[in-house]
Amino acid sequence: MKLAIAGKGGAGKTSITGTLARMIARRGRRVLAIDNDLNPNLSLTLGIPAARISSLPTFPAEIVRRNEDGVYELAMSLAELCDICSVSSPDGVSLLVAAQPREAATGCMGSAHMAVRGVIGAAPSGDEDVCIVDLEASTEHLLVSTAEHADAMYAVVEPYGTSLETGRRVAFLARDLGLPHVGLIANKVRDERDLAAVGAYAERHGIELAGAVPYDECFHQAERAARAPLDHDPDAPAVRAIDELAGQLVDGGARPGRERSSPPTALR
Ligand SMILES: Nc1ncnc2c1ncn2[C@@H]1O[C@H](COP(=O)(O)OP(=O)(O)O)[C@@H](O)[C@H]1O
Ligand SMILES: [Mg+2]
Repeated sequence: MKLAIAGKGGAGKTSITGTLARMIARRGRRVLAIDNDLNPNLSLTLGIPAARISSLPTFPAEIVRRNEDGVYELAMSLAELCDICSVSSPDGVSLLVAAQPREAATGCMGSAHMAVRGVIGAAPSGDEDVCIVDLEASTEHLLVSTAEHADAMYAVVEPYGTSLETGRRVAFLARDLGLPHVGLIANKVRDERDLAAVGAYAERHGIELAGAVPYDECFHQAERAARAPLDHDPDAPAVRAIDELAGQLVDGGARPGRERSSPPTALR
């Protein structure tokens, strides 16, 4: 299964992706997590020590080439790429960080998008393997087809107007790109009214609400302590909600393309 996590800046993509990746790994899947954000922080929410963030390996310069049809493809196998630059994270998640710009005025990072596109395409698609991508906040990844080979794209949305609107645009473009499954994950849900607002918005626009995560101070406390939310407080309500989502995605009703077995329960 190949999952792409999108949404507005600050919505909670990286917090959810890192926690979800580990929760899926704890369910016995081999997980490849990819940081496609040019301001990469996924290592932190996966639980890699913050002191390592600046020295994490990133994709080599010659990672993509154009084939005879003019299409960009990986210039090496996924196994070779992982040998060079994957990083082991807690719970056995493998992390690939696409890029970390170290100099200003060096041009756009289009090759990083093309490389991530190639990696998602090359990632194994069997039941035992899950590839999960933390996308950048801009919707540019949808214009350059970064996650074209994903099985599902979920837009993380907060329960307010512009965040929901971003989720709707992401869902529209992801469908236009041909992704088989598209949904929303409500985050920072404070009460039943928030959940109902996201649910009504999703229904009005015909988008599945795949999961809901409550507002939880644990995320801020974890950041202050420079720890992954999951390591900081494994029993925090938001962490438990993401665990429930992991279960739905890999073992249960919310698996891409299937109906959910039950509505999200962020506020339990
Ligand atoms: N459920 C939540 N409750 C409270 N704060 C959250 C929650 N999810 C994320 N946050 C906080 O919101 C901020 C943005 O989260 P982040 O995951 O970096 O968003 P994004 O990757 O979408 O930009 C961070 O400070 C994070 O700790
Ligand atoms: Mg992020």
